[in-house]
Amino acid sequence: MDIMKSICKFKTGDCGKLSDLIIKTLRTSNSGDYSPGQIDRFISEYSPEKILYYSKSRTIYVAVENNKIVATISMAKHNKIPGCAILLSLFVDPEHQGCGIGTDLVKYAEREALTYPADTIVVPSSLTAHEFYKKLGYVDDDQTDDINAINIWMYKALKK
Ligand SMILES: CC(C)(COP(=O)(O)OP(=O)(O)OC[C@H]1O[C@@H](n2cnc3c(N)ncnc32)[C@H](O)[C@@H]1OP(=O)(O)O)[C@@H](O)C(=O)NCCC(=O)NCCS
Repeated sequence: MDIMKSICKFKTGDCGKLSDLIIKTLRTSNSGDYSPGQIDRFISEYSPEKILYYSKSRTIYVAVENNKIVATISMAKHNKIPGCAILLSLFVDPEHQGCGIGTDLVKYAEREALTYPADTIVVPSSLTAHEFYKKLGYVDDDQTDDINAINIWMYKALKK
């Protein structure tokens, strides 16, 4: 059977599905790196209402496979650094991880960032995704000195 795959901007009607996907991924894929209390705090940031609120200040993309949303990533212009984009909220449904969807979404966002225009992307990587982002050419930013940090700031210069 052919798998139909695409990446597109999210629609406001997708907030509920996106919230379910993110909460499932946090519980399944991030729980090895964060305490139950931290996971609960992250989950509280991804209710359908909060996703709708975020969508006003960032672009939310979804990856769709066979008419089902299987992953998401968000991007915004950095509000303090000109020419810099920020990647946020990358989540791949646990049953679809390891198939290149996360890589496809980051590369798609990098191409979109060039049109901002941006020449650099930063990402507050989860502890879980640190090696994943390293494989995509992101390097640690020195501002992550706190050993209790919940995110690792990373950046990458974009090639035109
Ligand atoms: C991190 C995540 C986005 C990766 O998505 P994915 O679709 O599984 O990644 P890909 O299949 O594109 O993997 C690309 C490469 O990264 C590696 N990789 C992916 N996740 C990894 C992880 N958690 N640790 C180490 N390596 C990882 C893969 O093995 C693959 O390596 P290869 O090119 O040598 O085969 C996904 O696991 C996820 O949603 N994690 C939980 C949510 C999260 O932490 N998101 C990041 C928020 S900043």
